[in-house]
Amino acid sequence: KDSITGEQYRPNFHFTPKKGWMNDPNGMVFYKGEYHLFYQYYPDDNVWGPMHWGHAVSNDMLHWKHLPIALYPDNLGYIFSGSAVIDWNNTSGFGTLENPPMVAIFTYHNMEGERSGAIDFQTQGIAYSLDKGRTWTKYKDNPVIKNPGIKDFRDPKVMWFEKSKKWIMTLAVKDHVEFYSSKDLKKWEYESKFGSEKGNHDGVWECPDLFSLTDQNGVSKWVLLLSINPGGPQGGSATQYFIGDFDGNMFTTAGNETKWLDYGADNYAGVTFSDIPENDGRRLFMGWLSNWQYAREVPTYTWRSAMTIPRELKLNETKNGYFVTSKPVKELQNILLNGIVKTEKKFEVLNESYLLEFDKIKSDTFSVKLANTLNEFLEISITDNNLVVDRRLAGNSSFNDVFEAKHKAPLNGIIIKKVQIYFDKSSVEIFVNDGELVITDLVFPTETYKSVNNFGDIELVTIYPIDLIFDN
Ligand code: FRU
Repeated sequence: KDSITGEQYRPNFHFTPKKGWMNDPNGMVFYKGEYHLFYQYYPDDNVWGPMHWGHAVSNDMLHWKHLPIALYPDNLGYIFSGSAVIDWNNTSGFGTLENPPMVAIFTYHNMEGERSGAIDFQTQGIAYSLDKGRTWTKYKDNPVIKNPGIKDFRDPKVMWFEKSKKWIMTLAVKDHVEFYSSKDLKKWEYESKFGSEKGNHDGVWECPDLFSLTDQNGVSKWVLLLSINPGGPQGGSATQYFIGDFDGNMFTTAGNETKWLDYGADNYAGVTFSDIPENDGRRLFMGWLSNWQYAREVPTYTWRSAMTIPRELKLNETKNGYFVTSKPVKELQNILLNGIVKTEKKFEVLNESYLLEFDKIKSDTFSVKLANTLNEFLEISITDNNLVVDRRLAGNSSFNDVFEAKHKAPLNGIIIKKVQIYFDKSSVEIFVNDGELVITDLVFPTETYKSVNNFGDIELVTIYPIDLIFDN
């Protein structure tokens, strides 16, 4: 039965849709105690199709509750990726000051336009909700931004820019991003563009995000996330970022090297939550745990795809410059069962989902094998100043030629002290030194990995079992 449904691969503590196809996280926003996750969704099949916005809410970004579909395709097109904000001052007039509207800003993808050979088939639309995202009304004068005659014109991410009291939209436009501003979320003005000459251009730019972060010394910088497909460090999809300045009109950056948020093959189209309260102050991120190279073919059938575990993004100044680190959110602590300390080199884990934490790593010989009784294994090691994840013999990989691979991430001078490995049935998320280096990879072992073999010079290994917390 499992080989027909793929249910044995359904994660225990990662978000998945009950059934059907999912890709990018959309409209992530916090409001009245709830984290909202909308997502690219096709409920009627397990492959990509007419896009809707699926919807779920959570109090901790881990225990999710499914809600009815938020946005359906209409005669302007499919509902592609985008963002959501709380319009606290009711600038749009869709609500009141007492009950500010939640406003979604998304791309309309007009399939008929595309089929007819037109190039202007992507436009931007908005919709609002006055009942905490439960029901939505599309704006009657959509689209709010028409297409200027370019094929890739999508994925609006909107934020409030306090200094000029304006909304700023960052939009992915083929090989660059464009910034638009608005006073009311309805009328948008073009401001500037960025990126044709910066970063990686091996694929089309998608799903941008712009926000500021403050480092350990109180220095603030603007960060621009950009997903690119193909062209990622392991082939296919990945997310790069730029660190620079944004003055309300323009984004600028001096550097030109490509920085990757995650060196794995399977973290794409991730963006951050809007409207996290100031007294929390975190920048919270989730990505799509897949890669367009094989997302449609992975061996799960009732549903396809999960989101990554939520992560906190931080700005970190090092001797090599500024970097963005991704750290698993602190809420994850609450779902870990009691830690079991292991001193043997080889040991068994009793649960099917867990965190393995390696502390006090003393040398650069870190090497760990997660295996099952069928001799399938995933190997994580340090070789030639790279963190290497070898999933070539990790399990089922027959669904696509490129899946069977070894993934390398350059250490670039990082001294490894701590490694956390979150394993959840069909995914592994590896965090070095609280997120200085991250690798997120899918794996499809025929039977779960319960045996751990540690070859490194490691003093302390702790297993934290994780139970089923997300009951579909
Ligand atoms: C990224 C993406 C977006 C688009 C959406 C369509 O994965 O291609 O650019 O809006 O998926 O589902």
